[in-house]
Amino acid sequence: MNSVPQHVAIIMDGNGRWAKAQGKPRSFGHLRGTENVRNIAIKANELGVKVLTLYAFSTENWKRPAEEVNYLMGLPKIFIDRYIDELMQKGIKIRMIGDIEQIPSETRKVLERAFEKTRNNKNMTLVFALNYGGRKEIVDGINRYVKQLDDKDHVLTEDEFSRYLYTAEYPELELMIRTSLDYRISNFLLWQLCYAEMCFIDKYWPDFTGEDFENIINDFMQRHRRFGGLE
Ligand code: FPP
Repeated sequence: MNSVPQHVAIIMDGNGRWAKAQGKPRSFGHLRGTENVRNIAIKANELGVKVLTLYAFSTENWKRPAEEVNYLMGLPKIFIDRYIDELMQKGIKIRMIGDIEQIPSETRKVLERAFEKTRNNKNMTLVFALNYGGRKEIVDGINRYVKQLDDKDHVLTEDEFSRYLYTAEYPELELMIRTSLDYRISNFLLWQLCYAEMCFIDKYWPDFTGEDFENIINDFMQRHRRFGGLE
């Protein structure tokens, strides 16, 4: 039996389809999706997960219509305004991974204030992957590594390289969940997914409940993880 996974990641897919099924605009689905981030974060913290990484905006999402991109960029403010007091009470820390430079300055400021305010919280870390791309993370890591390199004969190890990734400070990813039943990784955490268990769920993100999350965690704890060996 495994313990509760220390690091869980979620691809929160299906907001648009969920809204369409209700005859509502896509933004309505994203708003419900944002409210659900609160529910799942509270549940994950309660269960003892240490890091929850959520795919909030990919490097490819800029291709969406400007109106939708603007709406998505406003979601961190809605989330933080509504839930920061509760996150503080529960000891949840907010962080972000991705290329922060291209994010509108209003969104960046809101997030930076939330980092500061929650900096000393000790329970779970809620990580938003924003303007995040897995390949970009690896290439950024290589560039950072090369820049500091003095000795061209140095042989880089996997562990050493992991320290150049956005996730350097977080424990190994153990479980990845994707809602809406698309069997894709969509450029998310390519390096970190190496030995993670995967779970694809037949529900749109706004319909995904704390109970669903808890069932997945229980299922994870029963899985037999061999890491390529025979045991
Ligand atoms: C994918 O669904 C979802 C997104 C691109 C955005 C996800 C963002 C949230 C759930 C809220 C994030 C919250 C904060 C606080 C940053 P989709 O729109 O692609 O759905 P579809 O595939 O049904 O069209």
